[in-house]
Amino acid sequence: MSTLTTSSAWLSLQDHLPVMAKQNLRELFTQDPNRFKSFSLKLNDILMDYSKHPISQSTINLLLELARQQGLEEKISEMFCGGRVNFSEDRAALHFALRREDALILDGVDIMPEIHDVLTKMERFTSSIRNGERKGYSGKAFTDIVSIGIGGSNLGPVMVTEALKPYSADHISSHFISNIDGTQLSTILKKLNPETTLFIIASKTFTTQETMANARAARKWFLAQGGSEKIIADHFVAVSTNRMEVEKFGINADNIFKFWDWVGGRYSLWSAIGLPIALSIGMENFYLFLKGAREMDQHFIAAPMERNLPVILGLIGIWQINFFGNKSHAILPYDQSLHRFPAYLQQLEMESNGKRIDRSGNEVDYSTGAIVWGEPGTNGQHAFYQLLHQGTQITPADFLAPCISHNPVDNQHRLLLANFIAQTEAMMQGKKKNEICEEYEVELSEESPIKDTFKKTIPHKVFPGGRPTTSILFKKLDPKTLGSLIALYEHKVFVQSVIWNTNPFDQWGVELGKQLTGKVLDELKNEMQITSHDSSTNGLINYFKENR
Ligand code: F6P
Repeated sequence: MSTLTTSSAWLSLQDHLPVMAKQNLRELFTQDPNRFKSFSLKLNDILMDYSKHPISQSTINLLLELARQQGLEEKISEMFCGGRVNFSEDRAALHFALRREDALILDGVDIMPEIHDVLTKMERFTSSIRNGERKGYSGKAFTDIVSIGIGGSNLGPVMVTEALKPYSADHISSHFISNIDGTQLSTILKKLNPETTLFIIASKTFTTQETMANARAARKWFLAQGGSEKIIADHFVAVSTNRMEVEKFGINADNIFKFWDWVGGRYSLWSAIGLPIALSIGMENFYLFLKGAREMDQHFIAAPMERNLPVILGLIGIWQINFFGNKSHAILPYDQSLHRFPAYLQQLEMESNGKRIDRSGNEVDYSTGAIVWGEPGTNGQHAFYQLLHQGTQITPADFLAPCISHNPVDNQHRLLLANFIAQTEAMMQGKKKNEICEEYEVELSEESPIKDTFKKTIPHKVFPGGRPTTSILFKKLDPKTLGSLIALYEHKVFVQSVIWNTNPFDQWGVELGKQLTGKVLDELKNEMQITSHDSSTNGLINYFKENR
């Protein structure tokens, strides 16, 4: 048994579980008219309501006790002071420094001037592209930015660029290529004019197979369209920590935007990896985006734990995953521009907290990261909400929505929010058999010709309720608010990793697949029958070879 699961705070929560498990959420609201007030928090324009979870004040107190026992406050300070919190790679995790203003000393050196230099370089570059001063080889201004990168070098920039479309420049279109499947690259490039296309190759390592293959294919396309090696310098820029590999690729030193190994890929959108975002929304808005995240950092550091949004969001997740055993978590943004937010959080949460070894190198005996997935509302309502309402598994969900829409078509935003609010109410309240009987009094009356058939449908119409949701409402999806929301989730992930005693900043789990791909790739180069693997793997390789 691990020290965590035998600890007093953990055992107290386990003892408390049956008390809350038998409570009906609906009744908790009836008993306490102040429940919303007691279990909601605000930071600037962001409201977080977690009252629709099976919690009481004792639950929160016990969860906070667990956080204290695991040294959460000390761990937060350690991270913000530049401690080597990425212990399996012996590195600091300083993504917050990318949005910080005051000095931060790492190994005796203030790292802030370097960060600000890169921001200044981004600012110059961004404005020269956006105002047309920097031109393509034929003297025309750039109209299309193609960003090539994958994972953290793609998901954040895509998500934010999409989310902040109302702030984007009309004369510049953003495109993203991530997949090794040539379909994405061909579909995008066939619409573009090389004279007015700028490529950003974004890769922390500059060795990622997919990114390098796509970057080479883009360069080939550019040369085949009449570009030359000499003018690659005008059309290709790179964002990377690996200067040597970038230069080998043929990108000129002036066109390299650096970042640092203390920024994890999935935490890197605040660095020059955010260049596509800055090109789309402009540097002023990018600075507001950083400001929003900085405000969340300051809140995370300073707010008391019981009023601290990331702490509470993280602990509610712990309650659901480790005590109620709910291991799937839905992200449901009621804002079409946040359509890539679930995919972004999927990497942030699952790559960070999909771990099974603790800081002492022992296998854990408790669950860690949940499976994160989701789709924007209201689309999901007509697809998978059936399972959320009536399925046998309980999936806690985060609902997110702005109060003000950037696209107020007739009364559609009101309709959207009515759906958001109604869904969270329905999940919590459910619908009991007697309520159905009252609602369908006429159909069930003695005189009703459909009485018997109708009766049979009643069990299917019952909603058990008690389905937990967190609602996050904010005023408007602007750069600053989006920055705060992303930082909220970054810190939530950190809080959970502290409880689980795992490292949220490494990702060794992606390595084995990469390694085996190299071996399989060699075997796919010829037509020989393969027998070196298990029968399934051999069978798949040989079937592919026979049918390609
Ligand atoms: O394979 C996973 C991963 O290493 C992610 O952690 C990272 O965000 C992504 O690949 C891309 O890596 P890079 O920026 O080095 O190309």
